[in-house]
Amino acid sequence: MAGENLVTVSDQLLPWLTWLQEMGVDSLKKNKIKRQEGVSEASLIPFQPPPTLSNKGIEPSLTLTLPMVRDNLGECTRCKLSGTRTNIVFGSGSPTAKLMFVGEGPGADEDEQGLPFVGRAGQLLTKMIVAMGLSREEVYIANIVKCRPPNNRPPQTDEIESCQPFLIQQIAAIRPHIICALGTFAAQTLLNTKTRISDLRGIFHDFPHDTMSRIKVLPTFHPAYLLRNPPEKRKAWEDLQKIMRALKEDE
Ligand code: URA
Repeated sequence: MAGENLVTVSDQLLPWLTWLQEMGVDSLKKNKIKRQEGVSEASLIPFQPPPTLSNKGIEPSLTLTLPMVRDNLGECTRCKLSGTRTNIVFGSGSPTAKLMFVGEGPGADEDEQGLPFVGRAGQLLTKMIVAMGLSREEVYIANIVKCRPPNNRPPQTDEIESCQPFLIQQIAAIRPHIICALGTFAAQTLLNTKTRISDLRGIFHDFPHDTMSRIKVLPTFHPAYLLRNPPEKRKAWEDLQKIMRALKEDE
């Protein structure tokens, strides 16, 4: 992006350009993107064709709505996380989103504000969403557990089991076409597997639920992991591009 012809970019464009730059793209020419030396063509081309999103035309559930799910959840005390949380972090975004992101669980900022992904990792997730040409309002963002585990420890089995029905109800209400599972924890929980994230990521999996198996789950790295391991952002960007292509095919 640096170079002779510097241009002024709008606030909207800046996060996308910053993200691309972090991905290794160093210049943009009209519709052509020039790659850094050493970045192979193969690394930019998906090895998996976009899935046919056969739930095309399926409307979000008319019988189950997000406010109903929120009501069902109530001021939840089903697990011990209720004793230490400040706020339930239910989820945010469009009730008719085609794309849903699912993370692990709220951190300190999320617990404080009652909103998902608003801390440092959340800022990176927002950049990723904007780089995809979307906004946070157009997608839906939720977590495997809705209350902050103390000291950001991983959620425990009983906590996940208590929370799981409500995430499933949210998915049933929204009927997204694609769920992007953020990190090991979300991917393994949503896909009911112990397979490593490095083997799960970048591949469209069927959502393993009887009535919702047409929903595709694409795992990628968690934004917090990407903050600790910036070179992995390139792979995450490839994963997001696969989602973009699949959504475009679906239009
Ligand atoms: N990490 C998560 O997994 N979820 C959040 O909401 C914030 C950070």
